[in-house]
Amino acid sequence: MLVSATEMLKKAVEGHYAVGQFNINNLEWTKSILQTAQENNSPVILGVSEGAGKYMTGYKTVSAMVSAMIEELGITVPVALHLDHGSYEGCYKCVKAGFSSIMFDGSHFPIEENVKKTTELVHVAHNLGLSIEAEVGSIGGEEDGVVGAGEIADPEECKKIADLGVDFLAAGIGNIHGKYPENWKGLDFDALAKIKELVGDMPLVLHGGTGIPEDMIKKAISLGVAKINVNTECQLYFQEATRKYIEEGKDLQGKGYDPRKLLAPGAEAIKVIVKEKMELFGSIGKA
Ligand code: 13P
Repeated sequence: MLVSATEMLKKAVEGHYAVGQFNINNLEWTKSILQTAQENNSPVILGVSEGAGKYMTGYKTVSAMVSAMIEELGITVPVALHLDHGSYEGCYKCVKAGFSSIMFDGSHFPIEENVKKTTELVHVAHNLGLSIEAEVGSIGGEEDGVVGAGEIADPEECKKIADLGVDFLAAGIGNIHGKYPENWKGLDFDALAKIKELVGDMPLVLHGGTGIPEDMIKKAISLGVAKINVNTECQLYFQEATRKYIEEGKDLQGKGYDPRKLLAPGAEAIKVIVKEKMELFGSIGKA
């Protein structure tokens, strides 16, 4: 069933684990992630960036596909369909299209404007039973055209945005979208602890989940992170498996050119990494 992410993340904070947000790009990815969640009895959040939404021809298509797939595959674990790094306009489009959760990324606005727009969107989302995520500081790197400098979030600003009634908060703590550079300094746990102290039980979100070492993930969860976003790592697994299939000449054997055969190794590889992440985040068996 498609649900908001509020309840699942509240339970995650109480149970000291995190729910994975896995970004989707097409039917194969959606199917792999939903099946893995179901097989492992784990709640799951499907993330849709504005770029991926456009690629899949629009949010209405995505929403219809996900809802239908949940029904056709008999998925019973809680699934949230969430707009990732949404613009103000994008949030309204997803609300209309039937998403169950939105993220308003107002981190590039001056704080007053971020507050004003977030307040408005919190009301819209809550009136319709959707959950809403906001961002303070910025996530470094680039994701689908959303570029961030990677500033560490100011705990006071986090408190200010949390008090607007958002359901979960993404705070930049040195995390980066995409692959981490060799000289990455790691997550800023002092900043995370200060933020946690001020925002209490508000579930915190760790973007840029790809490539963060396991011990850092576990420490982040112990400090209040309850949602972890993973995108690039699924892309890398998909790419590697697809490359192997072609390099081994399998597309040239029999009907190996059939797109359903061609995309199958990548789809299977996504299941492997999603399960690994669910194990690491501790969400298995928590549906
Ligand atoms: P990665 O692509 O680094 O895993 O980050 C995903 C993310 O944060 C989506 O918002």
